[in-house]
Amino acid sequence: MLPSALREGSGARERNRVTSEFFALFGTTEHSFMIQTIGVAGSGTMGAGIAIVAARAGFRTIVYDTAQAALERARNQTEAFFARSVERKRLTREQADRALAVLQGTTDIDALAQCDIVIEAVFEDLKVKHALLGKLDRVCPPSTLFASNTSTLSITEIAAGSGRDERVVGMHFCLPAQLMRLVEMSPGLRTSEETFATAWAFCQALGQVPVKTKDNPGFILNYFLIPFNNDVIRMVEAGLAEPADIDLAIKTALGYAMGPLELLDLVGLDTHLLVAEALYAGTHEPRAAVPALVRRMIAAGHLGRKSGQGFYKYSGSAMFGA
Ligand SMILES: NC(=O)c1ccc[n+]([C@@H]2O[C@H](COP(=O)([O-])OP(=O)(O)OC[C@H]3O[C@@H](n4cnc5c(N)ncnc54)[C@H](O)[C@@H]3O)[C@@H](O)[C@H]2O)c1
Repeated sequence: MLPSALREGSGARERNRVTSEFFALFGTTEHSFMIQTIGVAGSGTMGAGIAIVAARAGFRTIVYDTAQAALERARNQTEAFFARSVERKRLTREQADRALAVLQGTTDIDALAQCDIVIEAVFEDLKVKHALLGKLDRVCPPSTLFASNTSTLSITEIAAGSGRDERVVGMHFCLPAQLMRLVEMSPGLRTSEETFATAWAFCQALGQVPVKTKDNPGFILNYFLIPFNNDVIRMVEAGLAEPADIDLAIKTALGYAMGPLELLDLVGLDTHLLVAEALYAGTHEPRAAVPALVRRMIAAGHLGRKSGQGFYKYSGSAMFGA
């Protein structure tokens, strides 16, 4: 049974509606949809946004990170994000307070033992993800589902290090997760149908829009976005135009809300390096190979918004949107 605070409000009502649709669709019993407590492993750019989505939908949400500083930064950003959401009338003060009340951060992995699903959003590195999932397998009961937010790694390969590969699924949220509704959902080769169906219904209960993709490097979005972004970085390298003018041209002509260089600053150049390298390793697509400028920017500490400078300069570390 949900805590009373979560039984009320639009998040819980929407969750019940989606859950009923799920039972009708998959002809399963209520016991199949037992997701009430969410774990998010990694409290960086993506983990912080995913945690907002889960808490805003009314789920009890436990965020785990090895770095206390990352948790503190995410908490500050989240409080500021919800304050802006109230100011701009996207949420009532009560809804924002309720979301903050169900959200907790921890550096203790054992706290994730209570979770029905853990979404990992740690570094894009197979070894790091295997080490984390191996530990989680010891901490969480066998019923807990593991979801990976990987952009480019194989869900099947990630699942192989989990000790429970039938209960691992890809859930690729898009940046900024707190605003973007798309989630690419990918079963690995050994993901069970029940796991996929439960994760799909959970995704809808979050208020997100799931799209099914194969377990393929880059899924749908990054398959074209990473080579496209690398092309734009090469334009900067070649001195073709100023970053602001490249972004303006692309936004104006293609109707994008953000320019590719603004988006790269939000992604983080360090994360872009990891995802582009993983896409290149998986596809050998020459345009996925990361331009040299990216490594130089990382060496200079120009990681994007998170470090205060990327292709643009930033003051403060506020989260995007409201
Ligand atoms: N940034 C994006 O645009 C984006 C978009 C979609 C998906 N992703 C994917 O999301 C994942 C995370 O990316 P990000 O950009 O949020 O990275 P990030 O570097 O901003 O954050 C990663 C966080 O994980 C923590 N961490 C690292 N190892 C850990 C461990 N073993 N246990 C717990 N915490 C650990 C770090 O302390 C850090 O706070 C990657 O798989 C990436 O491919 C990123």
